[in-house]
Amino acid sequence: MAKVMMVASEAAPFAKTGGLADVLGALPAALVRQGLSASVVMPKYRGIHPDGIELVLADMPVWINNFRHRTDIWRAYREGVTFYFVDAPWFYDRGGFYSSYGNDYMDNHLRFAVLSLAALGVARQIEHPDILHSHDWQAALVPIYAKSWFGNDPRLAAMKHIFTIHNLGYQGRFGKPALGELGLDGSQFHMGELEFFGDLNLMKGAIIKADFVTTVSPTYAHEIQTPEHGFGLDGLLQERSGKLTGILNGVDYAEWDPETDKYLPANYNAAELEGKAKCKRAVLETFGFGAEAHGRPLIGVVSRFAEQKGFDLLHPIGDALKKEDVTVVALGSGEPHYEWIFHDLATRHHDNFRVWHGYNNGLAHLIEAGADMFLMPSRYEPCGLNQIYSLKYGTPPVVRATGGLDDTIEESTGFKFGEYSPSALLGALRYALQCWRDQKAWHERMRLGMSKDFSWDRSAAEYAALYRHVLGD
Ligand code: ADP
Ligand code: GLC
Repeated sequence: MAKVMMVASEAAPFAKTGGLADVLGALPAALVRQGLSASVVMPKYRGIHPDGIELVLADMPVWINNFRHRTDIWRAYREGVTFYFVDAPWFYDRGGFYSSYGNDYMDNHLRFAVLSLAALGVARQIEHPDILHSHDWQAALVPIYAKSWFGNDPRLAAMKHIFTIHNLGYQGRFGKPALGELGLDGSQFHMGELEFFGDLNLMKGAIIKADFVTTVSPTYAHEIQTPEHGFGLDGLLQERSGKLTGILNGVDYAEWDPETDKYLPANYNAAELEGKAKCKRAVLETFGFGAEAHGRPLIGVVSRFAEQKGFDLLHPIGDALKKEDVTVVALGSGEPHYEWIFHDLATRHHDNFRVWHGYNNGLAHLIEAGADMFLMPSRYEPCGLNQIYSLKYGTPPVVRATGGLDDTIEESTGFKFGEYSPSALLGALRYALQCWRDQKAWHERMRLGMSKDFSWDRSAAEYAALYRHVLGD
């Protein structure tokens, strides 16, 4: 059976800022259940020191431009998956994974070059995988270095490369000097390889160098081939469409199931929904609402606050929603503009809107459970996981019909709107609120959503089939 090694910048439970970590925390274990062997290589960020971790390779050199970067390789096992942690304190022992106080670290290209080269070292010296599966721009240098530097190394040249795009909005684009800093050859700096409007574009390079490219939902795989969602790479992706496919993410129900969720004050399932009312009370108390909010419909948001997520649509309809007598609670952090939007709504309509700025996993679970409906008005959404969690928690999602949101939500389980406009969002929310008032039909809708199965096993089987395909089995 195939042996796959994944490379990524985050994986739950060790380091997480978004859905990428959820995927790396669950997909490898699901592949192991399919009979494959799976490992993950990621940075040893500050504070990562899981039980049983051991040093397996001390002082593995990573050479860039005749400069020797020291890395120590640590190993731990989890659910049948081998995790390798690249220890390079100079690069990873910092306060944030990618940035500090909203500013990206200036040396991110080098930080993730070291990750990629260390992963190739682990592949060559320890793991010997058949497949190297890299995720997002932070691991894009894996196929780039493998094919440009190690094409003649028989151990590495035999390995096939899969590259997964979790978000085309973040391409790893750096000014031209980064090319030399990464030790890459100027002859690769042209439109057909690493160059993109005068800059270095790592994701573009990986799309070209990988044997197969995947993204995280079938609809997003189509959308990224259009100018609207292609972020300038739509032409290239169209050309590569024969080697591009969309595989929908799954959900780790060991983490996200209201029946067993350890973050909830009361558990529940489709047959016994009483616990959900307790969760709602807990959410309202957490956000400081009084008795007046208990009978009102509660709309939940858990999100990175980024342009992608569409919250600029919510801002202009604050007054209208207040008139609908709803409660809205939001948990998130990110770009100052979107933090400000929620802050402004919470200031102007304090009786109806509240926000919790920051990252809080327990509260994310509680909101999924306690809200009556869940809001994701994304401008684009490669897959999206929270709407799938919402189905399981009996919290019908209101989503914009784009990417994975369109693929996972049906009219019978949630609410979709198409046009990217505040009025379309308001229309969808008004319709959802009207449906909520018929509690009997609402409970049927909840139960239908709760019965849907998006477990990882189906997606893992699709990845396993893709690996077989690229290996020519
Ligand atoms: P994205 O990866 O684009 O942020 P996804 O829907 O795929 O979107 O995944 C987001 C993941 O991050 C979910 O597991 C969600 O619960 C979690 N998350 C997002 N923001 C927060 C936050 N502020 N606190 C806790 N968890 C969060
Ligand atoms: C990205 C996308 C999100 C997706 C996640 C995991 O962060 O924005 O839609 O669910 O990756 O694939």
